[in-house]
Amino acid sequence: MKVLSVSSEVFPLIKTGGLADVAGALPIALKRFGVETKTLMPGYPAVMKAIRNPIVRLQFDDLLGEPATVLEVEHEGIDILVLNAPAYYDRTGGPYLDATGRDYPDNWRRFAALSLAGAEIAAGLMPDWRPDLVHTHDWQSAMTSVYMRYNPTPELPSVLTIHNIAFQGQFGADIFPGLRLPPHAFATESIEYYGNLGFLKGGLQTAHAITTVSPSYAGEILTPEFGMGLQGVIASRIDSLHGIVNGIDTDVWNPSTDPVVHTHYNGTTLKSRVENRTSIAEFFGLHNDNAPIFCIISRLTWQKGMDVIAATADEIVDMGGKLAILGSGDAAIEGSLLAAAARHPGRIGVSIGYNEPMSHLMQAGCDAIIIPSRFEPCGLTQLYGLRYGCVPIVARTGGLNDTVIDANHAALAAKVATGIQFSPVTASGLLQAIRRALHLYADQKVWTQLQKQGMKSDVSWEKSAERYAALYSSLAPKGK
Ligand code: ADP
Ligand code: GLC
Repeated sequence: MKVLSVSSEVFPLIKTGGLADVAGALPIALKRFGVETKTLMPGYPAVMKAIRNPIVRLQFDDLLGEPATVLEVEHEGIDILVLNAPAYYDRTGGPYLDATGRDYPDNWRRFAALSLAGAEIAAGLMPDWRPDLVHTHDWQSAMTSVYMRYNPTPELPSVLTIHNIAFQGQFGADIFPGLRLPPHAFATESIEYYGNLGFLKGGLQTAHAITTVSPSYAGEILTPEFGMGLQGVIASRIDSLHGIVNGIDTDVWNPSTDPVVHTHYNGTTLKSRVENRTSIAEFFGLHNDNAPIFCIISRLTWQKGMDVIAATADEIVDMGGKLAILGSGDAAIEGSLLAAAARHPGRIGVSIGYNEPMSHLMQAGCDAIIIPSRFEPCGLTQLYGLRYGCVPIVARTGGLNDTVIDANHAALAAKVATGIQFSPVTASGLLQAIRRALHLYADQKVWTQLQKQGMKSDVSWEKSAERYAALYSSLAPKGK
């Protein structure tokens, strides 16, 4: 089966979050189920710089107003189709935000162009490769199935994966002519959304199947609290909705081979983690004593509950914990975390920024990772934590709920516990979880058991890739 995946980020070429990890790892995992994937992505400067000897596969003179080419290249085991359109993607700043942190005003055109290029490839425009199915991710590529719906060639099946329903790609009705869709596409059963336009909404209406990245989140987005306005649309598609939990690339994330981890270890040599812990203490300016280091590797946002961390940092220190925080995001949250670090030298260390190697070393050296998300479609850092013996302390929501087994009395007795879950995401909820963690940590035998059990969890793509492959086959049974 041939699949065209369309994604706005793909690890290791460009990453702002978990979407990149998934878009990079899933195609590799799918190979052994007979699925051959090509992944279409924008040619941001970092991507153009990283790729070697690409071949020009397609040329557009006028892709929503700008010229573009599609370049094909193999990069670290992934077959990539780069949409090289300098007018859209050759910019300083990130994939979505300019250097000052504001959305690019033409994001609608930048990602509609990506989606249109995907739909053209689906329609057979690339001379010797036509996919059997198209897989899109989030609002940035959701318009692919909308364009496919209105293309005169027979429509291929499509799957839309929701990684985070909080980002919906909503724009004013005034951009509609710029999308070059037929007038009847401005309709409720398509992209019209309360008089304006919704890219994700259009994808939800036109994709043949909808998946999201954990079974719990699939249930949650049917409710007003988590559906963020789209719960009705999703409910109308419930027969086509699937929750498939993410895996991780267990070759990239392997504590016994990870090149950025100073001291390698496995489930039987957990004591060696202490050397990585010393490096973490140095980097974050923390006392290298016996108090556990709780880490955070996260976007510093409300979704991730980072305001609750800021509000409880003093108490966490008073209770005997240390904090190592890596992330960036909301300026007010960054400010209050930095202020907490200034109040507690040696006990709280904060590094503002994005640091992929440090994120690995932290999982390999810290004692626990705190993930107090208000909602979490899947979450990957708890999976990395499980794999590295960095015990996850997580809010009981979405994929966190599906992947971490709480150390309650029964689970401890049965030796199946892998972490700590808590609810609600409030200061007292989190502090109660920290109290439990410190109590468990005090008995090193129990703590080591938690770490070992976590390291035994299957966090690979194996089972989930098989589910995607089965879904693909159910939609495109012949798979030419
Ligand atoms: P989300 O995609 O919602 O941000 P996920 O848990 O799915 O959440 O994925 C986040 C990914 O980004 C993980 O791979 C995590 O390690 C990484 N990450 C987040 N913040 C940083 C950071 N400051 N430095 C390095 N990696 C980070
Ligand atoms: C989104 C979600 C996160 C998920 C990731 C990959 O960024 O916020 O929970 O793990 O996508 O699917």
